[in-house]
Amino acid sequence: MRKLALFGSGSLALLVGAMALAQRDTRAQQAPAPAPPVWMLSPRDSSGLRGPRQPVFFRHDIHAGLNKIPCQYCHYSVAESSEPGLPTTQACMGCHLVIGGTDSSHKAEIKKLREASAQKQPIQWVRVHTLARHAHFPHMRHIKALGPNACQTCHGDVARMAQVFKVNNVNNMGFCITCHLQRKVTRDCSVCHY
Ligand code: HEC
Ligand code: HEC
Ligand code: HEC
Ligand code: HEC
Ligand code: HEC
Repeated sequence: MRKLALFGSGSLALLVGAMALAQRDTRAQQAPAPAPPVWMLSPRDSSGLRGPRQPVFFRHDIHAGLNKIPCQYCHYSVAESSEPGLPTTQACMGCHLVIGGTDSSHKAEIKKLREASAQKQPIQWVRVHTLARHAHFPHMRHIKALGPNACQTCHGDVARMAQVFKVNNVNNMGFCITCHLQRKVTRDCSVCHY
């Protein structure tokens, strides 16, 4: 009888314990721990980010955001050519001969950059936006008409992205036509397709 009573109160204690745990669980869900500041994000934590993973964890939020490096410093031909241009390894090294990174995991990314530069190997960046070959997009025409800060209209707020991802589906003709219609720009098939 005694044993049974003990067993009884024991399971009651377990039950109360479980209820307390369950309560703590819901409270934890109600007030999640504050996310760490974005620049503290380590390359090791990048698996949850949207967009393709790049060979070097290059951070637009750190370069264009925190350090305010202008888009056209790196995408140098965006106002003159269809292709915006991507910085060469040498252009990166203009700063990273000196700047080594803030912590060990970031230093490891800069080491990859320095090795690529020493071996004169370009970094094989993974394209985020790519149109089919039958469609043509001239960046310079858009930058001249919409201004140098128009990037955001199509690409979203890249300066706050730790890894670039697609905000607009550019592979959908409707995306182009909607704006061309609003701004009374040509919808002649042959300007975009050839
Ligand atoms: C320090 C150099 C640098 C600066 C400054 C910079 N970028 Fe980039 N950008 C890169 C590199 C390198 C890549 C390729 C790797 C990647 O996608 O992260 C890239 C990729 C991109 C892409 C994705 C290209 C694709 O494949 O579709 C977009 C869009 C972009 N940048 C927009 C911007 C905008 C907008 C700004 C300014 C707010 C900016 N970049 C500032 C270096 C830079
Ligand atoms: C105009 C100068 C400049 C250029 C050009 C530049 N960076 Fe940086 N980069 C910085 C600064 C500033 C930081 C912040 C780290 C610091 O302050 O120690 C940084 C940080 C980084 C980091 C580590 C992040 C961190 O917080 O430690 C990586 C990786 C990196 N850059 C890669 C690149 C690559 C790849 C390119 C070329 C596509 C490039 N950078 C071009 C200035 C530059
Ligand atoms: C009107 C829409 C629009 C605007 C504005 C725009 N882009 Fe783009 N961007 C695109 C499209 C569409 C592509 C894909 C082009 C292709 O595949 O030929 C692209 C591709 C890119 C790429 C990848 C090119 C490559 O060779 O890897 C970069 C980098 C880029 N844009 C940067 C910028 C920057 C920087 C700005 C602002 C100065 C900007 N874009 C403004 C629509 C836009
Ligand atoms: C946010 C508005 C906007 C979006 C989105 C946009 N465009 Fe445009 N586009 C313009 C404007 C404005 C012009 C006119 C530039 C000028 O007058 O030179 C233009 C001009 C053009 C031209 C040159 C037309 C000519 O007369 O030769 C082409 C080609 C073009 N766009 C293709 C595209 C494609 C392809 C897309 C989608 C991937 C696209 N545009 C998305 C605003 C836009
Ligand atoms: C402002 C630029 C623009 C104009 C004008 C335009 N298109 Fe497109 N079109 C595009 C883009 C961008 C795509 C998507 C390409 C991709 O898949 O990356 C597309 C896709 C298509 C597709 C689908 C092809 C596929 O891969 O499934 C067809 C068909 C097409 N266009 C026909 C036309 C015809 C016909 C006209 C004239 C009435 C026209 N387009 C005018 C930009 C344009």
